[in-house]
Amino acid sequence: MTIYLNGQYMPIEEAKISVLDRGFIFGDGVYEVIPVYSRKAFRLAEHLRRLQHSLDGIKLANPHSDNGWTDIINELIARNAAQDQYLYLHITRGAAKRDHAFPNPPVKPTLFMMSNPLLTPPAELLHSGIACITAPDNRWLRCDIKAIALLPNVLLRQMAIDAGCAETILIRDEAFMTEGAASNIFVVKNGKLLAPPKDNLMLPGITYDVVLELAATNGIPHEVRRIAVAEVFGADELLLTSSTKEVLAITRLDGKPVGTGKPGAMFARLHALYQDFKRDVMRAA
Ligand code: PDD
Repeated sequence: MTIYLNGQYMPIEEAKISVLDRGFIFGDGVYEVIPVYSRKAFRLAEHLRRLQHSLDGIKLANPHSDNGWTDIINELIARNAAQDQYLYLHITRGAAKRDHAFPNPPVKPTLFMMSNPLLTPPAELLHSGIACITAPDNRWLRCDIKAIALLPNVLLRQMAIDAGCAETILIRDEAFMTEGAASNIFVVKNGKLLAPPKDNLMLPGITYDVVLELAATNGIPHEVRRIAVAEVFGADELLLTSSTKEVLAITRLDGKPVGTGKPGAMFARLHALYQDFKRDVMRAA
């Protein structure tokens, strides 16, 4: 596997960074996960826009223009074999003497990018759906920043795994649903798709945006608003989205069936539209 580190391409075994890197010491950095289909980065402009939002959120200058990033990304895709890849892009505030405050003057940021084969969910999972649990959302108030400091998300995801489930759906203030530990969540009720608002309490998912655009262009009733806990438990369907999982049905929640306990009509429609959209985007590119 060939990776990119600070301007150079190399085998992952040769990649080294300082133990004083602020990413290692403080989790002081941001990241992106970008799917690649047929060797083309999916929704690259949107991913780079979200990267800029994350960098602004942590007051770190963007080390490259969008064109600069695009060149690096295309080079990394070319140097890796898989047709479908997922790119992990990671920027930290760099290596400096340990001090919580930013290094002054600033030091060079650390830039790391790797590519792995993209394995989208297998057919069995599309047919069965996944099981989830709920848990209090105990993260900070800037969940809109795609920060590499993911310990809360790590612990929340592990809760699901320990319960024999795939994902944890997060409930803020015992009142409303925000997202999953590493995914966005939609509720379906009476044929309408409900999505939580893109505020500071959730990551503005790129897949989330695609799904809402598909709903809009295909006349699927939808609404973006806060979703109460009771609506999550009373849902006809629950859907999960992310760059690596695309669109999945959640068919069990906290040990009980969601709706009929099988992936529903909204899932089938949106999953098919998403696959078509991927193909159309790739054809147009
Ligand atoms: N995670 N919310 C959180 C907290 C996430 O970590 C992710 C993605 C999403 C979905 O965003 P998108 O549709 O842009 O992938 C929502 C990635 C896949 C990860 O950390 O591996």
